[in-house]
Amino acid sequence: MDQYDTIILGYPCWWGTYPMCVATFLEGHDWTGKTVIPFTTHEGSGFGQSLRDLKAAIPAATIKKGLSIQGSKVKSAQAQIEKFVTGGK
Ligand SMILES: Cc1cc2nc3c(=O)[nH]c(=O)nc-3n(C[C@H](O)[C@H](O)[C@H](O)COP(=O)(O)O)c2cc1C
Repeated sequence: MDQYDTIILGYPCWWGTYPMCVATFLEGHDWTGKTVIPFTTHEGSGFGQSLRDLKAAIPAATIKKGLSIQGSKVKSAQAQIEKFVTGGK
């Protein structure tokens, strides 16, 4: 992970936050100076409390505005995803 400054972190919203495997991934790396851009799929909770949990888990990282998409509507979300991936350009 040393070679990356910006990490786009994707996860489904489970029980209001990211799944435990993501928590394990976060614990396994040094986030000092990294920028994290989260995106999530959900069925109503949006990011839930995952952004708060992210900030608490990796306080050394800068967490940027991300994207949340309802999983069952993802097939009609192409424009939204493209805008997210290209930074709105
Ligand atoms: C164990 C489990 C817990 C979930 N908890 C939530 C939740 O708290 N809030 C929510 O909006 N969706 C919840 N969901 C729905 C998932 O976020 C949704 O299925 C997922 O984002 C879509 O991705 P998938 O196609 O990989 O399942 C949960 C799904 C599972 C399997």
